[in-house]
Amino acid sequence: MKIRALFLLGLLAFAIAGFAQQPPFYADIQAFKQLDRERKPEKNGILLIGSSSFTYWKDVNSYFPGYPITNRGFGGSSLPDLIRYADDIVDPYAPEQILIYCGENDFAGATDTLKAATVVNRFKTLYGILRAKAPQASIVYVSMKASPSRRKYFPKIKAANKAIADFLKTEKNTGFIDVFPIMLNANGQPKPEIFRADSLHMNEKGYAIWQKVFQPVLLQTPQVKFINDLLGKMTIEEKIGQLNLVVGGEATTGSVVSTGVEEKIKKGAVGGIFSVTSPDRVRKIQEIAMNNTRLKIPIIFGLDVIHGYKTIFPIPLGLSCSWDMALIESTARTAAQEASADGLNWTFSPMVDIARDPRWGRIAEGSGEDPFLGSAIARAMVKGYQGDDLQANNTLMACVKHYALYGAAEGGRDYNTVDMSHARMFNDYFPPYKAAVDAGVGTVMASFNDIDGIPATANKWLLTDVLRNQWGFNGLVVSDYTGVSEMIAHGIGDLQHVSAQALKAGLDMDMVSEGFLTTLGVSLKSGKVTEAEITEACRRVLEMKYRLGLFQDPYKYCDPNRAKTEIFTHTNRALARAAAARSSVLLKNNRSVLPLAKKGRIALVGPLANSRENLVGTWAVSADYAHPPVSLYTALQSAAGSAGLLYAKGANISEDSAYEARVSIFGKKMERDTRSAAVMIDEAVKAAAQADVVIAALGETAEMTGESSSRSLIGIPESQLALLRALKKTGKPVVVVLFTGRPLVLTELEPNADAILNVWFGGSEAAPAIADLLFGDANPSGKLTTSFPRNEGQIPIYYAHRNTGRPLEGEGFQKFRSNYLDVSNEPLYPFGYGLSYSNFTYGEVELSSKSLRGDQTLTATVTVTNTGKVVGEEVVQLYLRDVVASNTRPLKELKGFKKISLAPGASQKVSFTLTTQDLKFYNNELKYDWEAGAFVIFIGGDSKSAKGVSVQWEK
Ligand code: NOJ
Repeated sequence: MKIRALFLLGLLAFAIAGFAQQPPFYADIQAFKQLDRERKPEKNGILLIGSSSFTYWKDVNSYFPGYPITNRGFGGSSLPDLIRYADDIVDPYAPEQILIYCGENDFAGATDTLKAATVVNRFKTLYGILRAKAPQASIVYVSMKASPSRRKYFPKIKAANKAIADFLKTEKNTGFIDVFPIMLNANGQPKPEIFRADSLHMNEKGYAIWQKVFQPVLLQTPQVKFINDLLGKMTIEEKIGQLNLVVGGEATTGSVVSTGVEEKIKKGAVGGIFSVTSPDRVRKIQEIAMNNTRLKIPIIFGLDVIHGYKTIFPIPLGLSCSWDMALIESTARTAAQEASADGLNWTFSPMVDIARDPRWGRIAEGSGEDPFLGSAIARAMVKGYQGDDLQANNTLMACVKHYALYGAAEGGRDYNTVDMSHARMFNDYFPPYKAAVDAGVGTVMASFNDIDGIPATANKWLLTDVLRNQWGFNGLVVSDYTGVSEMIAHGIGDLQHVSAQALKAGLDMDMVSEGFLTTLGVSLKSGKVTEAEITEACRRVLEMKYRLGLFQDPYKYCDPNRAKTEIFTHTNRALARAAAARSSVLLKNNRSVLPLAKKGRIALVGPLANSRENLVGTWAVSADYAHPPVSLYTALQSAAGSAGLLYAKGANISEDSAYEARVSIFGKKMERDTRSAAVMIDEAVKAAAQADVVIAALGETAEMTGESSSRSLIGIPESQLALLRALKKTGKPVVVVLFTGRPLVLTELEPNADAILNVWFGGSEAAPAIADLLFGDANPSGKLTTSFPRNEGQIPIYYAHRNTGRPLEGEGFQKFRSNYLDVSNEPLYPFGYGLSYSNFTYGEVELSSKSLRGDQTLTATVTVTNTGKVVGEEVVQLYLRDVVASNTRPLKELKGFKKISLAPGASQKVSFTLTTQDLKFYNNELKYDWEAGAFVIFIGGDSKSAKGVSVQWEK
């Protein structure tokens, strides 16, 4: 303990010296703490502590797949460093086994007079501390290694190794892994081929040697034991069979269907199936596997449960506008509850692709343009689906998708090429995927697009280097629908080649292509893939099944009672109604035309006024189309009180009938009115003339967004605009209820509407929720999570853009500045924007300090007041600008938000805490750090109007 006390004293001396240098490895320790904050550390596993041999061994988990290893090694550390930081690197993990690799740097970092006995004593001190902290743990010392560059210490290293081994023999529950001799060749010299160029650290071959001697010593959890045992019994065909994911065909989510599924299951050639639902059907299929296959490995059952199962919630883009993480989590929780009651255990959600191009139809499925908000939502969704216990029968394994960058398809055209800088990937597009990984998502889906010219499905850099090695993901990676075979069309090679490349890149499961199933055996024979690679992929499939508890009970999701009582319940529908109201965004409300009184006469017009199936939005493959949601017309009839309701369709969705047919598929029919446009408009105008107010239900059908639903022009179709103009001419107040799955160009619609309530596609209870909002029974509180462009030419448009060298200053066109001749740079509605029936004012932004240093914390506070007449909710948003940096930085970046509720006249102080973590970014060398200097903190109700205050933050 003496040594420890000395170090603590040393630390104190540092503290007294004020901001004198931090002790060595302080930054590493902070980085560990940050990791632990992001992902709660696993307890009771194996903890690696020590020096750089383990730090280089970053992908230690890939050397010991399945083992519960936490790597807390830090480069170049010596035994005194471990002693100093013992609390930080041991306490949070409550390990059951501790592996220590240390001591070599003690010799190398000291004068040559340092004795082996000193190092042994230091080890004993460390051992004493560790033993006190973890009385039950097995403590294993990994001997100092035999690096060529440290030859001169070999005698001391050998002596110390031996003394430590002898000491450990006298202690209980200890171990000693001797790596020294296995690194020498027959002449007693270090094997050159197992070292990196520095002659100090090992290369992959070196680790492979270590791996063998570690394996028998490592703590095995019951899961590791079970899976190793099972893998030991499996033939190569059975292993490959587990990598095959087939489609059951209840929902159409791709153009190819799997064939001969039953036969394949019997042959053990299916690991998972998706698009089969109901306890009966799932049970029957599971029985085929359990009764016919040699090893009785259960099948996993997946589905695209994207925004609800039978109770459909708003489309994800809509839900994101609630900025309400608790709500979002409960929608995912409810979806998991319902889907698992219907036989399922795996969902292909959350979709977290950042999208800054609203032409892309799949923008509807994500959370908009911002990585900070997108990450928060990714975490909430994973937590909602997976809960705290994947073994419970009411949770689902989540699958974050589409990894990666799928939302950045060129031209907004679905499945198109993606090409962007790595700095942008890491700063803007990767964070939500990483957030899902940090939240413990079980599976990841590779995207269709290429990245740096290599399809994500077979991109080793993406699937292994970044996902597994940098982010520590150790779950399963599945391809998207025929993602493997599509690489033939990408021009990467034939099916055998692309399948082998995908497996080697880190893909574990092949969705629908059957490239793995039909070619990996041949590739193994010809040496294109190794058995170890197939085994690892298989292990991950088995691990997923184990984690779900399927080996204990393959029928645990097949309880017909649950299916009867837990799906589409009143409670779930009430949640859907609240979610739909909270997701809607009030874009305009001139002269407070909304909310409407429940009296007088209301004319309801528009192609979506009496639509039902469309209200569920895209990706509602499990919705019950036999019992579609009620239409807005029906909902208003029951909510309007004494108000009279007139109805006229007024227009078709589009003047182009072929277009309308294209977007009325998958059960979301639109009855096309065959009357002329003029007749329809005339009827609507007559209804308007008799009314006090007009509600025009306009916009898109559900299938105008979603997969393969990109649009080059994203305005309101002319048929509907003509109707709106005619309505405006009546002089009656016109309220547009806007249905859409993307930010639309509303430049022509906006002047013709007195109010615009953007309701997205709200799901099963969309219509009653809209009625709640229109009549003021609910107060709009949604805020946009994507910018609404003024025209398509502004795309991509997003608030977090950079300044350029020639920024526009002020309003109006300026020559030699970055702007357009024909449109302003500003969106029509900015990110973060949304009105309420209340009004909110913001006081000045107050900072706890305007000059900070190092790891200090900044508190930014603002007083928000509800100056309106009703209770309302406001999303208070904090943005940051890094004014000067080595790389150009965005003008504003969201770094915090809080949704608060205020009674009329009430004020609330809202505070945000910022640390240097919030200042960090990836520079163009992909170093993640913050840079000292000036920052501006903005707080406000949207990204445009937020007020800023400057602060200086030095290192
Ligand atoms: C293709 C889509 O890109 C993906 O999101 C979905 O999960 C799969 N099809 C499965 O339906």
